[in-house]
Amino acid sequence: MADALKIGIAGLGTVGASLARILQTRMDALTVACGRPIAITAVSARDKDKDRGFDLTGIAWFHDPVEMAEKADIDVFVELIGGAEGPAERSLRKALKRGLHVVTANKALLAKHGVELAKLAEEKGLLINYEAAVAGGIPIIKTLRESLTGNSFSRIYGIMNGTCNYILTRMEKEGLSFADCLKEAQRLGYAEADPTFDIEGNDTAHKLAILTTLAFGNQIAADEIYLEGISNITIEDIQAARDLGYRIKLLGVAQKTASGIEQRVHPTMVPVNSVIAQVDGVTNAVAVESDILGELLMVGPGAGGNATASAVLGDITDIAKSRPGAQRVPVLGRPAHLLEAYSRAKMKRHEGGYFIRLTVMDRTGVFASIATQMAENGISLESIVQHSGSGASENAKTIILVTHATMEGAVRKAVAAIKEEGYLLGEPQVIRIERPKSV
Ligand code: NAP
Ligand code: HSE
Repeated sequence: MADALKIGIAGLGTVGASLARILQTRMDALTVACGRPIAITAVSARDKDKDRGFDLTGIAWFHDPVEMAEKADIDVFVELIGGAEGPAERSLRKALKRGLHVVTANKALLAKHGVELAKLAEEKGLLINYEAAVAGGIPIIKTLRESLTGNSFSRIYGIMNGTCNYILTRMEKEGLSFADCLKEAQRLGYAEADPTFDIEGNDTAHKLAILTTLAFGNQIAADEIYLEGISNITIEDIQAARDLGYRIKLLGVAQKTASGIEQRVHPTMVPVNSVIAQVDGVTNAVAVESDILGELLMVGPGAGGNATASAVLGDITDIAKSRPGAQRVPVLGRPAHLLEAYSRAKMKRHEGGYFIRLTVMDRTGVFASIATQMAENGISLESIVQHSGSGASENAKTIILVTHATMEGAVRKAVAAIKEEGYLLGEPQVIRIERPKSV
């Protein structure tokens, strides 16, 4: 039997501790599957005294992950600390420079430094595996990077943040408050160390940027993503969406258009009878549309210790099974030096349906004025309803409009003009509508 693959795990929190426990309890089965044992020979975290539910006997402990990357007796450096900079970045770079393969779940780091790290790994014939970085346990990286080679992609979109989907689902189904749902997501280990990354959409943007690169072959462009989080979505919006036959999900969408690639993350209304609308709780879903395959939808657990550790484990076992000197799959789907410059499509040219909720003074002429502004901006309405929705006071009315497909620029202009009219009470709510092709 071949020698053991020696791994060092930096970060023993939700994901790292789950991984260590699984590796220790499944050792025999993993040895059979990989044709060699996988041994944890080093770990790093801040607190050595914390009980993490696995046996540390014979494992070297490092308080400093950079020192572990530099000195530990390991073949693979597994980075599960998190963060685009700091110890995660420094230790991962050190590991590559030393000639170690790397496995990471760190989408923030890859979204920021992925291209440069991929170049470094490829120059040295090393692997960076990162299945857990996008959509938790769903094997979307391998699917795009290996299984769908040769396809030309037109759109890739999905629910990529378990925390947000968990919050939106519990708000809708149980009427719980946003704050209570977020607290519970944190307790369950779904949220990022700083949960604003989840709720403001940054985490989805990091993941989307990685998928865009794999699908379209461009440099990672996380900073070019149009971004809106879910923190201003109210129970009223969720109920209005349901009444109109939609559900609200935080989607990341990357789409090829005539003027470039559109990347956007925002709360989105999806038809209630679509599969993606049924994806609840921490579950994620990623849909891919391509010319040879057609439409593919992958659904599975998007966050949490075991689901994420499952993806990390798959990455480690791939390295354990790989033959020395074998051809390496390029980190980002094509060699990093061949990635193309990113060409951004302007958001104001985005075309789609819109839900617009306006709280207005209850006075004559308001309804007609809104309809006029829409018409003057060439926006065709699918429906316009007026009611005293929850949150509207005695002298206020809620008006909800749903548009047919129209340009974002026209919607922005119409809403700005309505604001000028002086009858709005509070900020308008605008939510884009996304339609799956068939699923
Ligand atoms: P976590 O629970 O916060 O764990 C972070 C670990 O890093 C802890 O063990 C912590 O040590 C250690 N650490 C932090 N700073 C350190 C430092 N300066 N030196 C040494 N160790 C340090 O995070 P997590 O949820 O496991 O996430 C880890 C990574 O996986 C992140 O990149 C995250 O985005 C990604 N991810 C997480 C999930 C999920 O569901 N949680 C899913 C997919 C991807 P102590 O324990 O001693 O404090
Ligand atoms: N905080 C992330 C989420 C973890 O909620 O989806 C998985 O990447």
